[in-house]
Amino acid sequence: MAANLFFLAVFTIATSSFAIASDPSPLQDFCVGVKMSPVFVNGLVCKDPKQAKPDDFFFAGLDKPGNTSNPQGSNVTLVSAAQLPGLNTLGISMARIDFEPYGLNPPHTHPRATEVLTVVEGLLYVGFVTSNPDNKLFAKVLREGDVFVFPQGLVHFQLNSGGDCRAVAIAALSSQNPGTVTVANAVFGSKPPVSDDVLAKAFMLEKKTVDWLQAQFWMNSN
Ligand SMILES: *[C@@H]1O[C@H](CO)[C@@H](O)[C@H](O)[C@H]1NC(C)=O
Ligand SMILES: *[C@@H]1O[C@H](CO)[C@@H](O)[C@H](O)[C@H]1NC(C)=O
Repeated sequence: MAANLFFLAVFTIATSSFAIASDPSPLQDFCVGVKMSPVFVNGLVCKDPKQAKPDDFFFAGLDKPGNTSNPQGSNVTLVSAAQLPGLNTLGISMARIDFEPYGLNPPHTHPRATEVLTVVEGLLYVGFVTSNPDNKLFAKVLREGDVFVFPQGLVHFQLNSGGDCRAVAIAALSSQNPGTVTVANAVFGSKPPVSDDVLAKAFMLEKKTVDWLQAQFWMNSN
């Protein structure tokens, strides 16, 4: 009997950890997010549903390219619950990604979302790497109309490989707030910096190379 209860407890814990691996399900039709609230909840506090209006479910401007004049030559325009309050509690978001010729959306992960990417213009070399111990790369060149999926939490990238042409992609993400960890920025651009003892050993680099990397300008996109 005690053993049964034990296994039931283990099973419950194991299955419930799967259930919370994505955004929670809504408990009402919608919950338009209010940004300025003294209350902290998992997501955003709901606006009174009687006060909701069409504009709460609306975002304009994804027809406009982001400014790609930066060292990576790419720009992510994110439409998450922060930009579109009606997305609060609905478990999805999207983004437009612009690439100048040879522009790169550098290796990064979304801790809370799987991403489905559609190329709407140009040619992109994209890929993701699986977790340890295999660290296997799945990569492909995508053209207009092609769709590729980056599984939740895995490191992935997109490079404009279309010569002198620009490229544009639209991404859908399975969280109202996917989060982004850009690998190089997190490692070499943290504030305060990670000790160069740690990074020299971890990356098999000389400390002066680590110091040089840490001195670079690391700008985070969304
Ligand atoms: C992306 O583009 C927007 C709009 O042009 C701009 O405000 C933002 O600074 C750009 N971000 C980066 C990382 O270049
Ligand atoms: C794009 O960003 C660069 C660098 O921040 C800036 O000099 C330039 O004026 C911006 N272009 C537009 C169209 O906003």
